[in-house]
Amino acid sequence: MCGIVGYIGNKDVKEILLSGLDTLEYRGYDSAGIYITDEANQGHLFKEKGRIAALRDKVDNSISAFSGIGHTRWATHGIPSVENAHPHQSTSGHFTIVHNGVIENFEEVKDAYLADVHFHSTTDTEVIVQLIAWFVESEELDTIDAFKKAIVTLKGSYALALVDNENPNTLYAAKNKSPLLLGTGEGFNVISSDAMAMVRETDQFIELMDGEVATLTKDSIKIEDLAGEIIERDSYTAHIDANDLGKGTYPYYMIKEIDEQPAVMRKLIQQYQNENGDLEINESVLSEIKESDRVYIIACGTSYNAGWVGKQLIERITGTPTEVHLASEFAYNTPLLTKKPFFIFLSQSGETADSRQVLVQVNKAGYPSLTLTNVPGSTLSREAKHTLLLHAGPEIAVASTKAYTAQIAVLAILAECVAKYNGVDSPLDVAHELGIIANAIETVIDDHEIFERLSVTHLSTSKNAFYIGRGIDYYVVMEAALKLKEVSYVQAEGWASGELKHGTIALIEDNTPVISIITDKVSGPHTRGNAHEVISRGANSMIISMEGLDRQEDAYVLPKVHDLLTPLISVIPTQLIAYYTALHRGNDVDKPRNLAKSVTVE
Ligand code: F6R
Repeated sequence: MCGIVGYIGNKDVKEILLSGLDTLEYRGYDSAGIYITDEANQGHLFKEKGRIAALRDKVDNSISAFSGIGHTRWATHGIPSVENAHPHQSTSGHFTIVHNGVIENFEEVKDAYLADVHFHSTTDTEVIVQLIAWFVESEELDTIDAFKKAIVTLKGSYALALVDNENPNTLYAAKNKSPLLLGTGEGFNVISSDAMAMVRETDQFIELMDGEVATLTKDSIKIEDLAGEIIERDSYTAHIDANDLGKGTYPYYMIKEIDEQPAVMRKLIQQYQNENGDLEINESVLSEIKESDRVYIIACGTSYNAGWVGKQLIERITGTPTEVHLASEFAYNTPLLTKKPFFIFLSQSGETADSRQVLVQVNKAGYPSLTLTNVPGSTLSREAKHTLLLHAGPEIAVASTKAYTAQIAVLAILAECVAKYNGVDSPLDVAHELGIIANAIETVIDDHEIFERLSVTHLSTSKNAFYIGRGIDYYVVMEAALKLKEVSYVQAEGWASGELKHGTIALIEDNTPVISIITDKVSGPHTRGNAHEVISRGANSMIISMEGLDRQEDAYVLPKVHDLLTPLISVIPTQLIAYYTALHRGNDVDKPRNLAKSVTVE
């Protein structure tokens, strides 16, 4: 959530900051701003409500500037507005700051130190910059000491980039909980909350850790702890292909990412196969799962929905009991755990604050943990004992698609490896089945026009919709409904079809769209029966079934795949339906209202 960039060096900074912010815009797009310093050491602040394109129009192109910071915002404290957009400045104009995260004690800090200060915004962020200025002006601290003292005073999550406007040839950075990277290059250095934003400038990054402060000039980076102890840390190479960051010939990232799923399935087989063609996962992960008496899957949103399919896979393939929990609930309402729990964190971004909150508790208790993430080096990856990567390539559309299928595929691979390690016969050959699934996904995507038509006939005007299914199909309809509501704004429910008659069926009236997913041969006939119950009450029904379970009346028949992996194929029509419904309603498919990618606040 929110994005930070900073650059100091030998190139004009305006375009570097703006294109960095373009790359980060999916993380927050309520407002944006940059602060740049020109050759005469004169600072210029540009802020705008809305998208980076609006900010770009506002920036004075005649200014040549070689250092600056920028920010794209997802509002937490204070409405989206020019006043609340970052960067924020101290009243005297001495300091300018950008901030990702939330300052929890900003009101207390305001009361304790800043009662006489006039604030220009209603953000928690302005408190930080006013506090730094206060320490410099009232306690005569130099900038670095004032910055450190502010950090000690503030509670919450933050990634910060700071400019002392009287010494703009230096940038300062610090973080707590929120990620922040320092990028290095010949004659320049950068700050970025995500390597993606600056990968056009450099692929060499140094991770900044909590409780450290960095001082950057164009030729040097100094990292120290709060006691002034210098910290040496090597840079790492960020393996990001700048070409993956563009939309290519696609109109939206969402459809590009839906289309990439067959390739992701094939890549996963390749990544997890050893030279003998067998699926392989680090033995210490397998032995810890073998030792455990229960697996706990912790996740949010789409990853949580993938977790339910994961539960089915782990239980059916390995015989290990598995629970799935919403991270935001688990953290504060922790269930009674078994004696030997093993935790799996599912997170596309690896930065989700709700999940991290649980991981902190898990680490404190000394339980083993594994993160499945798409982002190597992300917080949840670093802080969990083990990591398995999703290898899905950057997911830029806010609505997650390819990460969902990649998570399920990696969980299937994990389950098969655990079964083999435990000496249990796996009911399927996962690598072989994933190959079949890659082809089947292609077949469904080739039929995208059918789903565009179905979106128009069923969802172009309705205010609400239901997805129904049972068993493994129930898990998919939960995800289908989430996808539909987040991009199309149609109020959608993913409902266990057997539960309809216990109350929810009261909502069915003439033309209410009800989409049934039927891939499970045992429960499928019951779901079909439930579909007929809603048709009798006027519903605009659409049945998506799997080959072998299909009937004449069905809107679409999915190619047959292995029973345990049907979610990988049945979710595809639902992704396409969400995409086309949003498109036909004129919504911004990649940046739905109120949302942001990578939810780094609790
Ligand atoms: C929905 C979506 C969100 C995320 C959720 C968890 O399309 O993207 O529901 O799945 O915020 O994010 P990660 O997986 O990054 O932890």
